[in-house]
Amino acid sequence: MRTQVAIVGGGPSGLLLSQLLHRKGVDTIVLERKTREYVLSRIRAGILETGFIDLMREAGVAERLDRECLIHDGTHIALDQDMFHVSFQESAGRSVVVYGQTELTRDLYEAREAADGKILYEIGDAQIHDANTDKPYLTFTSDGQPRRIDCDFIAGCDGFHGISRKTIPLEVRREYEKVYPFGWLGILSQTPPVDDELIYSCSQRGFALCSMRNQQLSRYYIQCALSDHPDDWSDAAFWDELKRRLPGEQAERLVTGPSIEKSIAPLRSFVTEPMQWGRLYLCGDAAHIVPPTGAKGLNTAASDVHYLYNALCEHYLEKSPEGLQAYSDKALARIWKAERFSWWMTMLLHRFPEQTEFDLRIQRSEIAFLKENESARKVFAENYAGLPY
Ligand code: APR
Ligand code: PHB
Repeated sequence: MRTQVAIVGGGPSGLLLSQLLHRKGVDTIVLERKTREYVLSRIRAGILETGFIDLMREAGVAERLDRECLIHDGTHIALDQDMFHVSFQESAGRSVVVYGQTELTRDLYEAREAADGKILYEIGDAQIHDANTDKPYLTFTSDGQPRRIDCDFIAGCDGFHGISRKTIPLEVRREYEKVYPFGWLGILSQTPPVDDELIYSCSQRGFALCSMRNQQLSRYYIQCALSDHPDDWSDAAFWDELKRRLPGEQAERLVTGPSIEKSIAPLRSFVTEPMQWGRLYLCGDAAHIVPPTGAKGLNTAASDVHYLYNALCEHYLEKSPEGLQAYSDKALARIWKAERFSWWMTMLLHRFPEQTEFDLRIQRSEIAFLKENESARKVFAENYAGLPY
């Protein structure tokens, strides 16, 4: 087989890149190791920056998103019993959108299939060859048969546990990582959200987040020990702990119900540099991970896709190599700003095992400054609503 751009990974990054390139007449093949159903079963993020919406519109895949999404002009932040609002509209002049990654990925799959896009599911043993030459290729197995794809370029969109990042030689790659000493226990419940917008809560018992997917589907998280397992937490225990981490009025208002999904995610900050090697370009979780506090994971994948899509269009349509040469530096400049904001928000709102009384006072004063100072709210809003591409 031959294609112009071989894409490893059929998650949001790979599918969005494939659909955008298709609309410019650039041929792609997406290699996905799981089934479509498995990919769609993963409960992931839910907050989209306007830059992501613009990309989905450019990809011609925003019709359901525009119809069903929730628009949030701000968010609530609570410190123990005190809750205040930060308006993205007032402080940054824009909003964010609530639309589940599952639905977004479903829309992208449907668009690719409607366009007869080539997606190979349940492939095995994918390997990248000669990425550092002008004739890269991929080998893999499909239906137990050895296969090969020759291509012009390879987009590594295969997430944190994929093969693409590891294809870049250790002597070339530099990795930066911070692992946080706690996890997030998340549940999905078919209950009405506790508020119209999100609530990020910093309580003496630990962090909690009240989010949603729509008016009948809520997503809640509580900070938990890394040694915890979802089975350690009954629904009743989860709801009780969540209520104890919210201001009284919101705890009273909380509608509980059976969890339809329950999982624990570890938190880490991670960046690999460079994000390209020869004709291999990394996108999304393959290159970087943020703690979910700033809702940046999916949105940083989108800006990578934006830069790589435009660079590939420049190569194929304008015969210019500059975009591809500058891709890694351009993507990393925005990635590190999102890493900083996600780290800052995680440090601001969580309880850390070794925190001293001084540390707690500093944390409280930072939250008080955010509440009282317009400039602080503007910085928060600009970062949360999304920095420019
Ligand atoms: N071969 C083929 N496919 C692979 C391989 C491999 N060796 N390894 C991983 N994959 C697939 C995974 O099955 C997954 O479907 O690559 C895809 C990677 O998707 P994500 O992990 O979702 O990463 P990305 O597309 O960059 O999306 C970024 O989505 O995962 C969420 O919120 C999360 O921030 C993240 C965002
Ligand atoms: C979610 O809805 O899953 C979500 C929202 C905001 C975050 C993290 C997760 O910061």
